[in-house]
Parts: sequence; structure tokens; C-alpha cells
Amino acid sequence: MSLKPNHRLPLMAMGMISLLMALFGGVQRLGWDLPTLTMVLPANHGPLMVGAFLGTVIGLERAVALGALWGFLGPLATGLGGVLLITGIAPPLAQLLVVTGSLMLALLFVAFLRRQFAWFTVIMFVGAISWLVGNLLWFTGSSIFMVVWWWIGFLLLTIAGERMELGRMLFISKLRQGQMIAAVITAMLGVVATLLDVDTGVRILGAGMVAIAVWLGLNDIARRTVKQTGLTRFIAVNLLAGYVWLACCGLLLLLYGADFSGLRYDAVLHTFFLGFIFSMIFGHAPVIFPAVLGRGMLYRPVFYIHVVLLHIFLTVRVVGDLTVEMLPRSVGGLLNALTLLVFVLNTVLAIRANFVAERDQQAG
Ligand code: HEM
Repeated sequence: MSLKPNHRLPLMAMGMISLLMALFGGVQRLGWDLPTLTMVLPANHGPLMVGAFLGTVIGLERAVALGALWGFLGPLATGLGGVLLITGIAPPLAQLLVVTGSLMLALLFVAFLRRQFAWFTVIMFVGAISWLVGNLLWFTGSSIFMVVWWWIGFLLLTIAGERMELGRMLFISKLRQGQMIAAVITAMLGVVATLLDVDTGVRILGAGMVAIAVWLGLNDIARRTVKQTGLTRFIAVNLLAGYVWLACCGLLLLLYGADFSGLRYDAVLHTFFLGFIFSMIFGHAPVIFPAVLGRGMLYRPVFYIHVVLLHIFLTVRVVGDLTVEMLPRSVGGLLNALTLLVFVLNTVLAIRANFVAERDQQAG
């Protein structure tokens, strides 16, 4: 038995509130003088983004796919963890809730694997384990700059696995599957190696990222579908742009190694989280939101507005980071946050437009 679409709404809402609050904290961290909503928002920007927003949305999507009620305990835990991370109440409990969410996601993949074994599910399972290990390190006192590589491993493998799953349609050869698995193993070896020597570890992770980006760029179905029109092309454009940012992030890691704060750290993290991950989110949103919420969403060409803005302002920010120019970095970062608000607005309007169209159809 699954959770009814209406009952999934509060879970999605908790994830979205975490996103908005994380954005606020991120802009404050750039140095913009915003009013203090809660003292902890700037410090909790990263955990809110990764654990409470992405963790909740990914957990929700997977729980819907599994169709079992217990699967929703994960997004419930991360959603509640987000509320605590926003308010600053009981930090250890907030961390424990995020740990629980990641454990539930790993168990969810075990359930998928018991139903049917597939390499792409194994990759996503290892991704969930990476998130769990990162969260456990965070819970036991490690700094975010040490655990963020485990969080990156989580998202990298989740997407690599999902793209391989969809690639089944292209009948990818065993050799190519092997290449992807080798790239994923390289990336994860890098993540594990950060425990011994963070600089060497992130460079290996960077090499794995470049390999995954190149593999996806060459083998993803998006290369074909980008020649189509409408939503299909929109999704493909986002995927291909995301792979370019993933390669950029990998190259930065290879070139510079580990940084624990400051401009290069900002560039590495946000080429990945904004350039790669948000490209994936922008591309998949018109498919995932309807599947999760049970409400349709009309694709509209205005969606390209938030896509174009994301790439322009992220480029400005990263160039600012790498040339040590604070103004482009701050302005680009602020406009990155506003771009994500445009995305949320476009999404809400598209769901509403579909709702109105369906209602009129029924009335007529
Ligand atoms: C869109 C606007 C965003 C802004 C303005 C922003 C801003 C920042 C800033 C200023 C930092 C500190 C970098 C440093 O140490 O110098 C940071 C760190 C970080 N950001 Fe963002 N960010 C944004 C989006 C995101 C997104 C979408 C994610 C993830 C999905 C993310 C995840 C992180 C993480 C994990 C850290 C490391 C936190 C830490 O070390 O405490 N950010 N961000």
C-alpha cells in the first residue's frame, strides 16, 4: 500500500521549505545583509540543501516507485530534520533524523534489489550508503568539508544509476556498462580515500566525475532526444548541460585538490550542486512532480528562462571565484538563488495551469 498523493504533499512541502531556507542561508553566507530569520541558517545551508531538500525529494520519489507505506518514513524523517535544522532546535536530533532518512533510502534500494537485481540499482544503493556514511560522520562530529564528498558521492551515483536505468532502452553493450561501473568505482574509491588523505581522495573523485560525465555525454539517450521538440528536447538540453558542469567540477577537483572553505571550495561545490544537480532537477521536474504529487504539470517553453539564467549566473559566480573577484561571485550567487525562486514559481504556475485546464475540461 502506498501513501495517497494528497498525503505526500506535506512531505514535499517540508522539502521545499528547506530549499527556500537553505537559499536564504546561502545568500547570507555570501555576505549579503539579509535580516536574521534564525541564527543557524547560514551554517546549516549545506545540510538543509543536501539532507533536508534533496534527501526528501529523492526519498519521496523512490518511495512512490516502491509503492510501500514504510518507504515514506525516510522522507518524513529528513523533512522533520529540516524543520529542526531551520529552527536550530536540538541539533543532534536533527542530524539523527537525517541519518535515519538515509538509512531508510538504503533499505528501500535493498527492497528494489530483492524484487529484481540490476546493476543500476546497485549503483543507486551504493549512492545511498555513501549518503548514510557521510551523515554518520557528520553526526559523530566531522566537519562538513570532510563529509561533503560523501554527499556528493550519493547524488553522483543516484543520477548515474538513474541514467543507466533509462539507458536500458538503448541496449547499452556490456563493455559500455563496464566502463560506467569502472568510472563509478573510481569516484567512490576517491570518496573513501578522503578518510586517509583528503587531497588525494578528491582528486581521484574528480577523475571519476570526469569519466562519468564523458560516459554520460557519449552514451545518454539525451544525445538523440535533444533533436526532438517540446518537453523531450527540454529534458535533453538540461541533461547535456548538467554533464558539462559535472566535467567542470571534476576538472577543478583534479586541478586544485581539496579546499576547506573560500572561493575554490565555492566553485567546486556549486558547479556540482547547482550546475549538475539543478540541471537534473530542472530537466526531471516536469516528470517527477506529477508522478510524486499525482497532479499534472503543463510543460511550457518559459521553463527555458530559469535554465538560461542558471547557466549565465553560475558562470559569472564561478569565474568570480576562480579570478578572486568578489563582486561577480556575490552577484552571481545572489542571482543563482533568485533563479531557483523563478524555477519554483514556474513549477507552481505550471501545476496550477494544468489544474485549471482539467477543471475547465470537466466543467465543459
Ligand atoms: C543558489 C544559491 C546558493 C548560494 C547563494 C550558495 C552559497 C553558498 C556559500 C557562500 C557557501 C560557502 C562557501 C565557502 O565556504 O566559501 C556554500 C557552501 C555550500 N553549499 Fe551552497 N549556495 C547555493 C546553492 C547551493 C545548492 C543548490 C546546494 C546543494 C544542493 C548547495 C550546497 C552547499 C554545501 C553542501 C556547502 C558546504 C557547506 C559548508 O561547508 O558548511 N548550495 N554555499
